[in-house]
Amino acid sequence: MNTASETSIAPGYTAGLVQSNEEREAVFAVRMIVFVEEQAVPPEEELDALDMVATHFLARLIDTSSSNTAASIVGAARLVDKGHGKGKIGRVAVLREHRGMGVGALLMQTVEQTARERGFAELVLDAQCYAIPFYEKLGYVAEGDVFLDCDIEHRFMSKRLSSA
Ligand SMILES: CC(C)(COP(=O)(O)OP(=O)(O)OC[C@H]1O[C@@H](n2cnc3c(N)ncnc32)[C@H](O)[C@@H]1OP(=O)(O)O)[C@@H](O)C(=O)NCCC(=O)NCCS
Repeated sequence: MNTASETSIAPGYTAGLVQSNEEREAVFAVRMIVFVEEQAVPPEEELDALDMVATHFLARLIDTSSSNTAASIVGAARLVDKGHGKGKIGRVAVLREHRGMGVGALLMQTVEQTARERGFAELVLDAQCYAIPFYEKLGYVAEGDVFLDCDIEHRFMSKRLSSA
C-alpha cells in the first residue's frame, strides 16, 4: 500500500490511497458506521455515483500484531475532480474511538498532498457546521449561508493550495 509515513500528527496511525477492493470495502464500512449508524444519514444516500469516480483515502491504525489489514482501517475520505483545477473533499470520517488523536488532520494532509501532486489549485468541501473549527484549523474558510444536506446543517468551505 502507498501510505504516508508515520507522522507526529497522529502517532500510531498512517494514511494513504485506497489501493484494493478490500480497502475500498473497509472505508465504505467506516462511512456506514459514522454517517449512517451515528448520524442517521439514509444508507441509500451515503454511497453515491461519485464513489465510482472519486479517489479514496484511508487512515489505518498501525498494529503490528494483526494480520487483518481491513480491520485496522479507522478513517476515510474521498476526493472528486470538479474540473478547472478544483477538487472536492467529502465523506471525511474517523471512527469515534479514534477521534481527537489527529487522525482526521492526517487524512486531510494526505488528501491535500495528493491534490497538489495532481495539480489542483483549490479544494472545496461542504462542512457539517459542528466540524467547521476542524477544517478552519487546516486553513479552510467558510462562506455563504448554512444549508441542509440529509437534514444536517452545512456550510461551503474552500482552501487555495500552494503548488507541490
Ligand atoms: C470531524 C472529524 C473527521 C475530525 O476527526 P478527528 O480525528 O477527531 O480530528 P483531529 O483529532 O485530527 O483534530 C484536529 C484538530 O481539530 C480539532 N477538532 C476536531 N474536531 C473538532 C470539532 N468538532 N470542533 C472543534 N475542533 C475540532 C481538534 O481538537 C484538533 O485540534 P488541535 O490541532 O488544536 O489539537 C471526526 O470528528 C468525525 O469523523 N466526525 C464524524 C463524521 C463527520 O462529521 N465528518 C465531517 C463531515 S463534514
